[in-house]
Amino acid sequence: MSSSMLEHGLKQDPSATRPGPPLWLLAELTYRCPLHCAFCFNPVDFATQEEELDTEGWIRTLRQARALGSVQCGFSGGEPMLRGDLEELVAEAHSLGFYTNLLTTGVGLNETRAKALKEAGLDHIQLSFQDSTREMNDFLSNTRTFDLKNKVAGLIKEYDWPMVLNCVIHRMNIDHIDKIIEMALELGAETLELANTQYYSWAVVNRDHLLPSRMQLEEAERVTNEYRERYGDRLQIVFVIPDYYEARPKKCMNGWGNVFLTIAPDGTALPCHTARMLPGAAFPNVADHSIEDIWYGSEGFNRYRGKDWMKEPCRSCPESDDDLGGCRCQAFLLAGDPAAADPVCDKSPDRHVVDHAIEKAQSTAMLPTVGQPLIFRDPKESLRLSI
Ligand code: FES
Repeated sequence: MSSSMLEHGLKQDPSATRPGPPLWLLAELTYRCPLHCAFCFNPVDFATQEEELDTEGWIRTLRQARALGSVQCGFSGGEPMLRGDLEELVAEAHSLGFYTNLLTTGVGLNETRAKALKEAGLDHIQLSFQDSTREMNDFLSNTRTFDLKNKVAGLIKEYDWPMVLNCVIHRMNIDHIDKIIEMALELGAETLELANTQYYSWAVVNRDHLLPSRMQLEEAERVTNEYRERYGDRLQIVFVIPDYYEARPKKCMNGWGNVFLTIAPDGTALPCHTARMLPGAAFPNVADHSIEDIWYGSEGFNRYRGKDWMKEPCRSCPESDDDLGGCRCQAFLLAGDPAAADPVCDKSPDRHVVDHAIEKAQSTAMLPTVGQPLIFRDPKESLRLSI
């Protein structure tokens, strides 16, 4: 056991086989964001977590992760463009040999910064839209950003980055799926991610407004397949359906502590971006521990690694290798127990919670009839909901 592991009281991985390295590093540089999306995946209590690692802290983290074997680095947020040192961090990641990816709303990505990011070696940009129409895009983000996003899409092309457009899909924009695909074709995107909302963080708060009906979902998939047939050679369309409509859970994060390492803005290391809400010991911080000790030795990263933690029905399930029990955060949110089977699974004793949400989604009409108004991500709302 290394001396630093002993010093910090970190436990050594009890399993005989050492997991592989954290191939995918997600650097959540900040929770600050000019948008107010009602489905934001940042923690609902983000406003209580204002601290941010400084440049030196991020550079140390990048070096340690790369030395351990990380190969891909995503810079996200919040809005990562709000960090004035983004170019410096990208340049460092690039020089270390990472494949670098920027996940942005587009706000702050002007000509000067695009040029600087290109020179820094940024490999790839994922630009988010909320809808194909100015009205819905601006309504859902509670900002006037539609025109700006179009300009940023132009810059991405001008600087010759491969462009991935990402549009989070839910009951308020799912019927525009054809227009969203056409927008992506017009903007010259190589890939379009039609990412149906998954119900974590702010999307849980607004679930009754966001969960589409089965009919909406089936129609959207049909339309998507039509476009795939017509334009498959120009545009790759990824359509991810909401977990709730599946009968088996996803192998979340490709397994806990298996491939993904998220670093929250304050330096807390997490196996996924919402894990901090789970009960149990606090996750370690990169300011106090090395990435190697965190990844291999911390209790948090070993908590749901592999299968030893499983209860029934997962423990004896012949499919448990395929999904590793699903998502720990979803199990906590829906069943109140992070070690339970993901309630999305139709073998879970808690599946009725998911079915109930789906039933409501079939009968609930659009916005005005839903009891609680749509709550936009906002620091004041964050503080109110965190009490
Ligand atoms: Fe946390 Fe799935 S999102 S384990």
